Formats: sequence, structure tokens, C-alpha cells
Amino acid sequence: MPDLRNKTIVITGAAGGIGAAIARALGADGAHIVAADISLDAASKVADEIKAAGGSAAAVAVDVRDRASIRAMLEHAVATFGRLDVLFNNAGIAQTRPFLEITEEDWHRVTDVNALGVLIGMQEAIKIFRRQGGGGKLINTASIAGKQGYEPLAHYCASKFAVVAMTQAAARAFGKEGITANAFCPGVVATGMWKTIDQGFRDSGLTNRENEAFDTFAAGAVLGRPSRPDDLVGVARFLASADSDFMTGQSLLVDGGMVFV
Ligand SMILES: NC(=O)c1ccc[n+]([C@@H]2O[C@H](COP(=O)([O-])OP(=O)(O)OC[C@H]3O[C@@H](n4cnc5c(N)ncnc54)[C@H](O)[C@@H]3O)[C@@H](O)[C@H]2O)c1
Repeated sequence: MPDLRNKTIVITGAAGGIGAAIARALGADGAHIVAADISLDAASKVADEIKAAGGSAAAVAVDVRDRASIRAMLEHAVATFGRLDVLFNNAGIAQTRPFLEITEEDWHRVTDVNALGVLIGMQEAIKIFRRQGGGGKLINTASIAGKQGYEPLAHYCASKFAVVAMTQAAARAFGKEGITANAFCPGVVATGMWKTIDQGFRDSGLTNRENEAFDTFAAGAVLGRPSRPDDLVGVARFLASADSDFMTGQSLLVDGGMVFV
């Protein structure tokens, strides 16, 4: 089992779904967890659960679209736990829109959180990693939508391709300083996000019944079921630990076998 004891790990989007599962698991591994989310109430519940289980955690409000907010989140982590070791840029939103109906507003709404938020997160974490003398791990949540384009999610896919690209660029830029950047790419995970996507399919007249889009997409996984948030814990633990020290610039598909590249 990789050793994460006393590592300070900041996770954005930690109030729900994948982020909360990673926060709970790495908190149980002995890391200091900073659960960050636009919903402070929900992030606080996750931090409280980690502490109730004997772990170490704090909650902080963040809007990843806002540089000052990201800076405050990271400085809070350093002030509370002494340093920053790992940043998971995991917060994200999705929107289903038929290709021809995506507006400029839709584009900015999705890409500001999913792509710009990741860029700012990496930039501000790198400044702290440098201040600490180098080293540090950046871990970004991309998606199968960062490897393939899906018609009613074009702007979401663009935002996730951007995450893959920025992960590679950051890896090249900061490798000599011992800073690594990697991503993982979930498939179809049963979280609040998929409820939004599924609803969007119905609103667009693309599907008729609840969970039809979810079931149809999930049926593409050769392992025969949709993902649960806990399915992403193993890769998150690996990427956060010294076991992945010689790996950078990679975007690992953990999707039950949906996309082979
Ligand atoms: N669910 C899936 O099938 C799936 C598949 C591939 C990738 N992903 C990615 O996984 C990540 C987590 O998604 P999830 O499925 O757990 O969804 P989720 O909706 O359960 O969690 C996303 C979290 O991000 C937070 N958030 C949204 N906007 C924010 C902002 N501006 N600042 C800070 N926090 C914000 C939300 O409050 C929420 O807690 C996202 O980046 C998503 O794109 C999800």
C-alpha cells in the first residue's frame, strides 16, 4: 500500500462524487486532506467524516474559476498542515447540448470551470511547490471525453481534451524541478454529474426515460457495469504516492474498458 501518511493533499470538487470518494480514502490512508468545493457545507461534511474516522482534514470554499480563491485555498492548506504535496484539480461541471445549439455562454460556463480552473490550479500550486524547494504532484481529472468527442457534449469534451493537453504541457515545463503532472480519465460514473447529463439528454429529446443515456453509455464498458466513485480511488492513490514518481504527462483511462487508445 503506498504511503501517504502526513502528505498534504488538496482536492477540489471534494464535496461530491469522485472527489469525495478520493478524499475519504486518502484521508483513511493518513494524508492531511483539504476538501475544497464551491459548496462549503457539503465539503465540510466530507472533512467531518474523515475526522470522525480518525483522520486529519479541513474544508475550504473555492471557486476554481477565480485565481484569488484558488490561492486562498492553497495557502489555507499550507497554513493548516505546513506544506502542500499534492493538488487534485477535480472540480468539474457538465452540460448536454446538441452540437448546433451550444452557445458562447455554454462554452464559457463549462470551459471556465473544467479547463481554466485546472490551468489556474496548476499555476498556483507550482508557485507553492517552487517556494518549498521543488517536488510536488499535480493530478487532474480528465475523462473519456478527453480522449473521444461525444456529440451532445462537444464543449465538455473540449474542456477535457484541454485538461489532457495542459497535463502534458505542465509535465514538460516543470519536470526538471521534480514536479509531476498526470491525469486520470473516468468513464461513466454514477455521480450527481451524470444525473445532470442524463437530464440534459431527456431535455434535448435525445432519450425518453430516466437513466437511458446513463445505461446506454455505461453499456460500452467491457467490464460490464458503470463505474462507482470508489473505482477511481486506486489510481488516485497511485498518482498521489511515490509509486508514480517516475511518471509524468500521462492521462490514465480508468473506465471499465470503454476507450482503448
Ligand atoms: N461522473 C462521471 O461519469 C465522470 C466521468 C469522467 C470525468 N468526470 C469528472 O470527474 C470530476 C468530478 O465529477 P463527479 O462526477 O464527481 O461530479 P460531481 O458533480 O459529483 O462533483 C463535482 C464537484 O465539483 C464542484 N464544483 C463545481 N463547480 C465548481 C467550482 N467552480 N469550484 C469549485 N467546485 C466546483 C461541485 O460542487 C461538486 O461537488 C469532474 O471533473 C468531472 O468532469 C466525471
